[in-house]
Amino acid sequence: MPADTAVGIHDLSFRTGSLVLTHEELGKHTGASLSKYHEGIGQRAMSVPSPDEDIVTMAADATRPVIERHGADRIRTLLFATETAVDQSKAAGIYVHSLLGLPSQVRVVELKQACYGATAALQLATALVRSDPTQQVLVIASDVARYDLDSPGEATQGAAAAAMLVSAEPALVAINSPSGLFTQDVMDFWRPNYRSTAVVDGRKSLGAYIRAVDAAWHDYRERGGLPLEKIHTVCYHQPFTRIAFKAHQQLLQSAGLDGDDEAAVDEAIAPTTRYNEIIGNSYTASMYLALASLLETGSALDGETLGFFSYGSGSVAEFFTGQVRPGYRAALRTDAHREAVARRRPIDYATYRRLRVQDLPTDGQRHELTHQALGSFRLARVQAHQRIYEAAGRRP
Ligand code: CAA
Repeated sequence: MPADTAVGIHDLSFRTGSLVLTHEELGKHTGASLSKYHEGIGQRAMSVPSPDEDIVTMAADATRPVIERHGADRIRTLLFATETAVDQSKAAGIYVHSLLGLPSQVRVVELKQACYGATAALQLATALVRSDPTQQVLVIASDVARYDLDSPGEATQGAAAAAMLVSAEPALVAINSPSGLFTQDVMDFWRPNYRSTAVVDGRKSLGAYIRAVDAAWHDYRERGGLPLEKIHTVCYHQPFTRIAFKAHQQLLQSAGLDGDDEAAVDEAIAPTTRYNEIIGNSYTASMYLALASLLETGSALDGETLGFFSYGSGSVAEFFTGQVRPGYRAALRTDAHREAVARRRPIDYATYRRLRVQDLPTDGQRHELTHQALGSFRLARVQAHQRIYEAAGRRP
């Protein structure tokens, strides 16, 4: 393959849960002011999966339009990134492979490193495509973010899946070298196998994230990366959207530029936050929802260089760039994304609370689930310790 052949994101599609809890509704229970939610953390609503949805149904729903548009003939690898896996052994991607009828000649594997997993998958995918540009790789990021009830993290919950098709001569964004990397053993956020909610030291996690911005940026520059003035906009991992503004101030400072002009920082970052502020944290998918927001709501970006800062607690961080491809707008899925957000059914706090304490039965018996999911796939039942998924058809 010629050294200058572009490799990157050819298609990007996301879906989210079918229910939505607004921060106005959450605030009625917590007593926190709306301005704390809207301005302090930059969140307005959170997606909540219905009981018959999980990372698999959201992932299949996000990926279906990608397969419909491009076919599956060239896909030889499916990389599924998540930190809220449904099984300790089987890759969630195999359910997606089956639901979408992908060819048998595909390798499927699941990757984990907190919210960073999808970026590892994207980098592996670009390397695979560079080694054989006739192949395409499906990268899927899907997560349901859950914190303890009545904890500070609860307001930052969310759920979404992003599906990306990685190929040579991509329609959306070509991924560039080099990358800046930073790994540090830190207990800022983690989830032991016996817990369904994350354990988090909120303040420590903020410090770890911001330090990682500085460290990954310096490594990026030392490896010959572009000066920040050449980068049009940076998409950050957004566990809550306000952190992206703080991270950008840090990046400006790390690059020796003025980080104090808050209005300029707001203007630079706001186009990347439109989806995450109403969906909440989608962990591995969050930075790619920031990219969708930027491409769909920002000014024309043809030929511009974008920066990406990916952070996964624990912790691993990566700063890299991508080149927006001329004519990218023709490949966007703006209407479908807005519809996936708009169709969510609002729930009140009491319903949210009831859903949160309802876990799937673990007795191995057959339990049917009521059809509530609004997407194309649903979890129909659990039976013999298996999750049984099906195409959703029309809701009764
Ligand atoms: N009006 C406007 N702003 C207000 C306000 C009001 N009435 N009241 C408070 N605020 C501001 C505060 O000043 C604060 O802003 P600063 O940080 O700029 O000072 C902000 O709102 C949040 O207030 P608190 O710190 O009091 O909020 P909190 O105790 O509820 O905790 C949190 C916030 C630590 C982020 C918590 O939501 C949390 O633990 N979240 C989960 C952890 C997390 O997301 N960490 C991010 C890095 S780790 C990561 O990135 C991985 C991942 O996905 C989790």
